[in-house]
Amino acid sequence: MPQQPLKRVLVTGGAGYIGSHIVLILLLTRQYKVLSIDNSHNSFPEALKRATEIATEALPADATEQDRDSAVVEAFSGDLRSRENVEKVFAGSPVWGVIHVAALKAVGESSEIPLDYYAVNVGATIQLLQIMAEHGCYNMVYSSSATVYGTPPVVPIPETTPLKAESVYGRTKVMCETILSDVCTSYPDKWRAISLRYFNPAGAHTSGRMGEDPRGKPGNLLPLLSQIAIGKFKDDPLKVFGNDYPTPDGTCVRDYIHILDLARGHLLALEALSDERAPGSKISPDIFPKQGGKFKAYNLGKGRGQSVLSMIEAMRKASGFNYQYEIIGRRVGDVPDLTADPALARKELGFDAPLELDTMCEDLWRWQSMNPDGYGQ
Ligand code: NAD
Ligand code: WQD
Repeated sequence: MPQQPLKRVLVTGGAGYIGSHIVLILLLTRQYKVLSIDNSHNSFPEALKRATEIATEALPADATEQDRDSAVVEAFSGDLRSRENVEKVFAGSPVWGVIHVAALKAVGESSEIPLDYYAVNVGATIQLLQIMAEHGCYNMVYSSSATVYGTPPVVPIPETTPLKAESVYGRTKVMCETILSDVCTSYPDKWRAISLRYFNPAGAHTSGRMGEDPRGKPGNLLPLLSQIAIGKFKDDPLKVFGNDYPTPDGTCVRDYIHILDLARGHLLALEALSDERAPGSKISPDIFPKQGGKFKAYNLGKGRGQSVLSMIEAMRKASGFNYQYEIIGRRVGDVPDLTADPALARKELGFDAPLELDTMCEDLWRWQSMNPDGYGQ
């Protein structure tokens, strides 16, 4: 039987932590031709090389030429702010959809260089949407964040919670969601967009060949813990930011979701954007309203909160490293508890995040110990 032609999907920021895992998951399906554009601002092209290697090794012995092609990511190097760079990606065969992952993402930095954050996260998104429309591409999955909720009034957090981001970074995410929703409302027969609000993605691919490789000292807890365990930052002990929060052990609670579960959520979102359904698909048939804009937002979390101290203990178990830490004052901008209510994503997308905390920490540790210097900085 002839194979269905591959749908071409562009992943912006495809070389980054989340983007590279999404790329890999897409490559492994053999259903898409995956393109990426990234300017290496916070990543290394090596991540995409490894994704292609892993997907190529996973091909069956009787793989067709199309299968082989589907295992190779077509990587463009370029800044999304440049119209010329983005147009190059759309110049070839038609792109069916875009997973828009590229962004600047450091909360603290975003108030130091707000214009850069608005230019990359908002300006480049508007331009991308314009170029998509010019090329007849109207499907987008957008990388949003739990940070859009600010300090949530109710935990676990449902999507109906009012969006009240408390940082420049968070506001760029709210703005992009608003833009997407407006575009979908104005062109209900063309545009479809799904915004995925990630909680705290963590872990690495099971092979130990792909993972998170932040530039400089990590500000986020999990990459910091894994780098401390391989012997970095000996002169700068681990600090726990506050133990006087209204949580069971006084430290902040977050909803850590395995990066592979998160990446798989994007497959569901792509399927939801399309009119076709895979056999056994759990995607709700009426995910978009018959009338009006076809924009939806979903929480991608596990729905279970873990405190800072419980994450230190989980990483101790995975790595064998006995962390010494000191409790210091609260970090500005931290909120006590960010735990998702993932019920809507479960109901409408069939989303599930089955990978457990131990697996997440073991995978993270495998990646870190096999690649002490990440992708070879
Ligand atoms: P990342 O920095 O690893 O990935 C972002 C990628 O975008 C990088 O590869 C970077 O080089 C690229 N990029 C940045 N500016 C660009 C530009 N102007 N042109 C082209 N490429 C550019 O970050 P990540 O953790 O993978 O996050 C990916 C997305 O998920 C972001 O949109 C982020 O806001 C969102 N998000 C991340 C988290 C998290 O905890 N990591 C949580 C919620 C949401
Ligand atoms: C987790 C917990 C810290 C470091 C951030 C962004 C958010 C989203 C995900 C993009 C907090 C504590 C941390 C340390 C500590 N990104 N901590 N000592 O803050 O939940 O979310 O990344 O959208 O927008 O804000 O993640 O990993 O920085 O912190 O005690 O050295 O660990 O206080 O409670 P956070 P994190």
